[in-house]
Amino acid sequence: MGKAAASNLQTEIVARFMAARRRTRALCEPLTPEDMMVQSCPEASPAKWHLAHTAWFFESFVLREFLPGYRLFNPDFPWLFNSYYQSFSAFPEKRLRASFSRPPLEEILRYRAHVDEAVEQLLAGDPEPEAVKRIELGVNHEEQHQELLLTDILHAFFSNPLRPAYKAGEMEMSAESEALTFFEFEGGLHQIGYAGDGFCFDNELPRHRVWLEPFAFARRLVTCGEFAAFMADGGYNRAELWLSAGWDAVKSNGWRAPLYWSERDGGWSVFTLRGELPLDRLKAAPVSHASYFEADAYARWAGKRLATEFEWEFAAEDVDELKATDGNLLDAGKLMPWPSAELVENQGGAQFFGDCWEWTGSAYLGYPGFKALPGSLGEYNGKFMSGQMVLRGGSCVTPAMHVRSSYRNFFAPETRWQFSGIRLAL
Ligand SMILES: [Fe+2]
Repeated sequence: MGKAAASNLQTEIVARFMAARRRTRALCEPLTPEDMMVQSCPEASPAKWHLAHTAWFFESFVLREFLPGYRLFNPDFPWLFNSYYQSFSAFPEKRLRASFSRPPLEEILRYRAHVDEAVEQLLAGDPEPEAVKRIELGVNHEEQHQELLLTDILHAFFSNPLRPAYKAGEMEMSAESEALTFFEFEGGLHQIGYAGDGFCFDNELPRHRVWLEPFAFARRLVTCGEFAAFMADGGYNRAELWLSAGWDAVKSNGWRAPLYWSERDGGWSVFTLRGELPLDRLKAAPVSHASYFEADAYARWAGKRLATEFEWEFAAEDVDELKATDGNLLDAGKLMPWPSAELVENQGGAQFFGDCWEWTGSAYLGYPGFKALPGSLGEYNGKFMSGQMVLRGGSCVTPAMHVRSSYRNFFAPETRWQFSGIRLAL
């Protein structure tokens, strides 16, 4: 990288760093200190922990290595707020995060301010290019935790018998969805993986060739109304529709509907960040909080399949003038998946980005020649490459700057607490 390019990156990173740090705090504004302590399922973490851990990331991987004379805020925090980096330090069990009543919230906020000041001091000087790259990684890490914070609060509020809304206020949405139609794509040899000169995660590289057979790809996501038809047709009671492990999950968990759907007086309602809403009003909205197993079973019931992650990426790159940032992402402020009819114009007609992460039929593996980042940061993505499926596209709580067509999310196939939805392919 030349000096001018490095200085442009530095200016851009200062702005992104400050904006990301402010936004994390802003997302906590509707929360009480008690809300911020709740860890209601094994996948989730308390909001207070997210606040501390995102500061920990900058302290551990930037400030300690690159800011001469940096003073640790608290000597216990390096191990206390480590999430899973085995080569960095020991760390508490994840399920204990809800017991962190100490340090108090006020101390966590001072920790954040201490780290902010030090990162700004580092950026105001003449930081090594590697330090700037690490700050950029830290900003992307913070954006991931912003999404997790909202995902976790949705579960926390669903688990609360009062079912509070994170954001009050009704929003009108169309009750009608477009008819389901398909894009056709020619097959052939295509390049997959990140090709730009900006930021990407290590798991998006190297770019490499993949052979695709001709395929067709649904223009929109599967809606709540369509998923309700699968349920009404006995979808959860028909073993022939399910993968073996999926059927086991249905039986052992007693699944009858996606997560956050509740049946009362013969009708269904769906819990959202905007509170509990009757299913009738959400019929045209994409179904969310489905596991990979439910997505796969729905696709089989519909006589279709899930796309591979390579088909997804090629399709998203091939749609003209598709801009990731125009989708129903966190910046749109809706905080829930939205009917496609209202998003057609700015999404190439296809809801590629935002609404729900889309389960693909691809197992999460390293691309040919994959190299994890050196040192402890090599644990960021690479060590999770077993037993997980890839999701693409981002959700209604993903920061708009965070996604791109080569972005790979990944979760275990039984996961339902994420905003995860279904797109059909042929
Ligand atoms: Fe993290």
